[in-house]
Amino acid sequence: MCGIVGYIGREKKAEKVVIEGLYRLEYRGYDSAGLAYVEDNKIKVVRAKGAVSGLDKKSSNIQPQDLAIGHTRWATHGKPSEENAHPHESFKGELAIVHNGIIENYKHLKELLMDEGYIFNSETDTEVLANWIEHTKLKRDLNLVDAVHEALKFVHGAYAICVVEPSAEMIVCAKKSSPLAVGIGDDSFIIGSDATPIIGRAKEVIYLEDNQIAIVTRDKLQVKDIDNRDTGFFPEKLLLDLQAVEKKGFESFMMKEIHEQPETIADCLRGRLAAAGPEIALGGIEDVMPRLLRAKKITIVSCGTSWHSALIGKYLIESLTRIPVEVDYASEYRYRKPIISNDDVVVGITQSGETADTKAALEMAKGKGALILGVVNVVGSSIARLSNAGIYTHSGTEIGVASTKAFTGQVAAITMLAIKLSHRLGHIDDEKLMDLKDALAIIPDQVQEILDDSAAIESVASIYANYDDFLYLGRGINFPVALEGALKLKEISYIHAEGYPAGEMKHGPIALIDESCPSVFVMPHDDSYEKTVSNLQEIRARSGKVIAVTDKEDKNLTEAADAVIIIPKTEPELTPLLTTIPLQIFSHKIARIRNKDVDKPRNLAKSVTVE
Ligand code: AGP
Ligand code: GLU
Repeated sequence: MCGIVGYIGREKKAEKVVIEGLYRLEYRGYDSAGLAYVEDNKIKVVRAKGAVSGLDKKSSNIQPQDLAIGHTRWATHGKPSEENAHPHESFKGELAIVHNGIIENYKHLKELLMDEGYIFNSETDTEVLANWIEHTKLKRDLNLVDAVHEALKFVHGAYAICVVEPSAEMIVCAKKSSPLAVGIGDDSFIIGSDATPIIGRAKEVIYLEDNQIAIVTRDKLQVKDIDNRDTGFFPEKLLLDLQAVEKKGFESFMMKEIHEQPETIADCLRGRLAAAGPEIALGGIEDVMPRLLRAKKITIVSCGTSWHSALIGKYLIESLTRIPVEVDYASEYRYRKPIISNDDVVVGITQSGETADTKAALEMAKGKGALILGVVNVVGSSIARLSNAGIYTHSGTEIGVASTKAFTGQVAAITMLAIKLSHRLGHIDDEKLMDLKDALAIIPDQVQEILDDSAAIESVASIYANYDDFLYLGRGINFPVALEGALKLKEISYIHAEGYPAGEMKHGPIALIDESCPSVFVMPHDDSYEKTVSNLQEIRARSGKVIAVTDKEDKNLTEAADAVIIIPKTEPELTPLLTTIPLQIFSHKIARIRNKDVDKPRNLAKSVTVE
């Protein structure tokens, strides 16, 4: 979800304030930018793919304006391009809109509008919303405010929007699930998807509530509720400095991103679980479903953290679908002369969509006739484009080099894929499907519960911050979580940490164990719990310290372990989405105590575009 800026006021500087606001929102990451203003009772739109500086150049000769809205887009529907960039003007020119979020029922609304003769110029859900509001306005002869209010009654999904019309009297704002703030300046109002564009331009701000509509004119702000009744508003003082807002008050981008996970996992699940009928809707793979269901083998290639999601994918796909799955490091796959036939399905999991090793591996497999699926965060990235089909993870921009929210997005996506295939192949019935969907739907709240308990996890971390070697252990689907926990600690604190299957520990790594090498056990109460408890005892018997992450109080465990972190209970298949979270908080705390730059760890790059 990306950035919105709006300005309406007495001074003619709207285009400048909006461009400057968009620059300030660049930290969120985006793929295109645009702005709209009104001249001679006509809406004018300027848009550019790529950086705000491109838009800045393109709009340098705009006459000074007293109203403008702007946007930085992080594509969710349609590739990053000038046509898909916001603002979107409605078909008959009645309005222009900027939008953050996802309109879940855009397909249905689009069909209704096409029946009414509407033609679309972009692939976005946002243009559908623009036309839906226009259609409501014209059909029912409403003013803009009432049209927005009425139109939104039929819209499902998440949105923060600003709408303007050719009369240029007002900016109409509305929000649901996506944030929107209105700054109250001395002679103007500045709107922002967060307070960043408002800082220094207004001393007071109101944060709109879900389902509220704000009507902002040059000299008045009015806020209405879902029933179109005036609610008044309560401005808050705006004291934050820019840097603090960018990190939303968190001490690092990584911590901000850890805390965004309830929202980002919900974004990944949104519209996919709630589809009509029992099935999980994964629009991006529907066309290739017959070939997927026929697959004799699935290979997943990826690197680093994404490789850990791939391992979780293997556990899930094999156990739920009985299709054999191979997981390979992308950098190995290419050079080991893999056996690839045109019945094969090769899945690439990648946050950036630009990782050179993964890209090269997928290109090779594609050349040999395999069907390529991408599980990708960045819309329109190279790997998204080269894939035949895929699932976007919708985790939003990840700035911290160490992946957190992108990982849980990948796990959520691959979990939905495994469940969907399993149901289609008849390995799980409707009842089991519904159980898994219900359990998935509450994962965001359960992640929030863990985050609410961060202080307890951090106090455990504080005790272990000065140790120089760690072992992370787990079994089954939580073995990759142990690997990811170890990688996270290694990446940001430079502590030596290794992940192992808990059962494998006695075959070698146990030699490392003494009082100076703590072990982190990832051990929810699944089929292998008792066995893992035995492994834990083996460590205790050798004076090793033990930190256990589990999902239920167990007196024996409390007695055996030095620290126990309890997370909420979920279905065994979904545990990685929860067990991962305390490990992220744990490594972040240790790195901060050791005074490391968690957002930019030494020697690492966010996107590795060399092989
Ligand atoms: C994550 O913490 C790492 N920085 C790294 O392992 C990363 O996951 C890997 O380079 C793959 O990147 P990708 O997901 O963008 O392909
Ligand atoms: N869903 C919209 C699009 O793809 C908005 C994305 C955003 O929040 O930037 O254009």
